[in-house]
Amino acid sequence: MAPVQRTATTAWTDARLILALEEVVETELNRHLKVAKEWMPHEFVPWSQGRDFDGVLGGEAWSIEQSKVTPLGRISLVVNLLTEDNLPSYHHEIATMFGREGAWGAWVHRWTAEEGRHGIAIRDYLLATRAVDPVELERARMAHMSEGFESDNAHSMLQSVAYVAFQELATRIAHRNTGHHSGDPLCDQLLAKIANDENLHMVFYRNLLKAALELAPDQAMRAIADVVINFRMPGHGMPGFERSAAQIAIGGIYNLRIHHDDVLQPVLRHLKVMEVTGLGPVGQHAQDELGAFLAGLDTQATRFDERQAALLARRAAAAAARA
Ligand SMILES: [Fe+2]
Ligand SMILES: [Fe+2]
Repeated sequence: MAPVQRTATTAWTDARLILALEEVVETELNRHLKVAKEWMPHEFVPWSQGRDFDGVLGGEAWSIEQSKVTPLGRISLVVNLLTEDNLPSYHHEIATMFGREGAWGAWVHRWTAEEGRHGIAIRDYLLATRAVDPVELERARMAHMSEGFESDNAHSMLQSVAYVAFQELATRIAHRNTGHHSGDPLCDQLLAKIANDENLHMVFYRNLLKAALELAPDQAMRAIADVVINFRMPGHGMPGFERSAAQIAIGGIYNLRIHHDDVLQPVLRHLKVMEVTGLGPVGQHAQDELGAFLAGLDTQATRFDERQAALLARRAAAAAARA
């Protein structure tokens, strides 16, 4: 009898992985469909606050004093909506990687439909409440979507799965914290609902990543390390992203501390990534690199915390001096 080959040393191609994980995708899709409750975006939008704009209908032009959300909320809501708006590009990336057939295809289409609701709901809310400049918003959407989105991980199925596991959680946290900082309870309520969807997406991909880690531990460990070390938010290409991201960081919606504590660590701990044993040299090296990177990131996050506290204290002192 031929000796049984250890999975750790099997060379897994993307095509073989997709085939081997199809059953897990089917199980996870069915679980997802059971827990994902239908919700109606129109119920979350205060339509009674809406009225015609200037232009074709001759209504009132937008001006900033009409907005009830905080300045930080405005910046973050636009970043979140533009990120959701690029869905056609994300759909293209995952449909190309995972395929449009069978359980994979069913997930790709269902996920796309759920994500589509997020952009619709946020835009409706922003326009009905006059929270942001609608002309600037539309121009930013055109610019952002015209660039498209190209995944950093399109060359690797395992990296693609690892990326979305972290990215869905990052998006969940970004929506939830944006709601908290928006100053409008209705905005908070809507973004909490959307954040709940993102959480279910994270659970789907995290469970898939768990199965991949069991099937192909060395390659999956390498993929996780590469994704964590090189992580970028999906909206990184939008106009003015760096400036917006800096405000979002200082304001406590999304920063290094949150990324480390609320996004990377929960997924890594759940999958017990740092406790996997019996790896080959490739996986072992990746696990060591990941450990070193996380320690470095924690140190950087602590430095960020200190700079943030100092800046907020200066701002508070300046405000007190003005009062
Ligand atoms: Fe979304
Ligand atoms: Fe999502």
